[in-house]
Amino acid sequence: MSPLRTAILAQVLGGLITAGLMALVFRGMPPHPLAVASVQGICAAFVSYRLEAPPWWLPIHLVFMPLAVILNGLNLPASIYLVVFITLLLIFWRTDRSQVPLYLSNASTANAVAALLPVARCDVIDLGCGNGKLLKRLAQLRPDCRFLGLEHAPLPFLWAKLINLGQKNCQISLGDFWRQDLARFDVVYAFLSPAPMPRLWVKLCEEMSSEAVLISNSFPVPDVAAERIVDVDDRRSTRLYCYRRPTEKATNPPYSPAIELSRLRQ
Ligand SMILES: C[S@@+](CC[C@H](N)C(=O)[O-])C[C@H]1O[C@@H](n2cnc3c(N)ncnc32)[C@H](O)[C@@H]1O
Repeated sequence: MSPLRTAILAQVLGGLITAGLMALVFRGMPPHPLAVASVQGICAAFVSYRLEAPPWWLPIHLVFMPLAVILNGLNLPASIYLVVFITLLLIFWRTDRSQVPLYLSNASTANAVAALLPVARCDVIDLGCGNGKLLKRLAQLRPDCRFLGLEHAPLPFLWAKLINLGQKNCQISLGDFWRQDLARFDVVYAFLSPAPMPRLWVKLCEEMSSEAVLISNSFPVPDVAAERIVDVDDRRSTRLYCYRRPTEKATNPPYSPAIELSRLRQ
């Protein structure tokens, strides 16, 4: 089930359980709406847990309905909700589908990535470049290299485009990185989430040259040994996982992207 459907199901079931509890416990005198909303939040979080949704959904379910009740009590103009919704949509776009939210690589990580770039001039792509700060730093440190940032969320794309306007060796494009052919890149940088890593690995094995390297910030490719792991000296203990695609000789049994992709789609 998609994360969005799981979340809706948790909210609905949480509501039904709460309605049942309220009917049993408080027959004549209904409790305060905030108390009902808090119970619904706890029930929705419990359902989400039982549906094995990722743990970061729990606090969202806990506060969603209580927050809705509090905001409703403030009698704000309805247009505010629309503006907030559109702003969040422009920033996070279809995170429910991509399962990759916006969070940013820090300066220490940018320096560590720069140290991993080949000595010779190279082409680098950042899959989902966010606000483009990482690429800006890399482009400044390595004026001999070419950088491409692909971003599908409109506001981060505009932000990345603006801050890289003067950076001639850095191009920022609006688009979906799943549609980008990765064959010409020597370094592919990704800071995504655990969800897309298996599919990304299949794509890289099909398209990336055998000398090219994938640098994945924080999220390893499941069941694939990294060629190198770099520990960044920062507060969040960032790890950079470096991979090269297997050559046919090295894989036993031979690696087949088609078989692998059909396995992922099952
Ligand atoms: C965790 S952020 C990383 C941002 C940046 N790479 C960095 O390290 O600072 C991931 C970004 O990928 C973007 N993204 C997710 N799926 C995408 C896709 N299919 N095509 C393009 N961008 C995508 C998200 O909108 C988000 O901005």
